[in-house]
Amino acid sequence: VTSISYSDTTDHVTEAQLQGFFSHWSNRPSPAALLRILNGSDHLVLARDNTSGDIVGYITAISDGVSCAYIPHLEVRPDWQGQGIGSELVRRLLARLNHLYMIDLMCDPDVQPFYERLGMRPSTGMVIRNYGRQSIE
Ligand SMILES: CC(C)(COP(=O)(O)OP(=O)(O)OC[C@H]1O[C@@H](n2cnc3c(N)ncnc32)[C@H](O)[C@@H]1OP(=O)(O)O)[C@@H](O)C(=O)NCCC(=O)NCCS
Repeated sequence: VTSISYSDTTDHVTEAQLQGFFSHWSNRPSPAALLRILNGSDHLVLARDNTSGDIVGYITAISDGVSCAYIPHLEVRPDWQGQGIGSELVRRLLARLNHLYMIDLMCDPDVQPFYERLGMRPSTGMVIRNYGRQSIE
């Protein structure tokens, strides 16, 4: 039986435990860049495989702490998807953001049913993407 533990800190998380993410991006941030993303976020939840110690999923939020939060990153490693880990990451983060008025994220239409099951609803938005900065470094 696979055992996953969830935590809200990068303490004791190494770059070596952050492999295999951004698989759907053309210019992938490195594990070091992912660690910077995690450490720069106001909120995070990590999912760790207790057998290997690897981080297999993460979600982050940035927030002003009083009115709003934005969820820029949610990812479960491809080999760990479909086991409820993504849903648990969202549930745990939303519970922490419950006191805020606005909780927003952007996603493709195919993922909207996933977020709808977790209590969110579709909206519209506007974005800028500087693709030259996608890999961060
Ligand atoms: C979206 C994501 C985080 C879900 O993680 P997960 O651990 O597989 O999620 P769960 O196991 O809790 O739930 C899986 C459900 O979400 C649905 N789902 C997930 N990604 C989907 C997608 N791209 N298109 C359609 N449905 C999707 C599946 O249908 C599945 O439902 P099922 O169990 O009834 O088959 C994961 O697929 C992922 O990391 N995708 C790539 C990155 C991404 O798209 N992140 C979201 C950016 S906004």
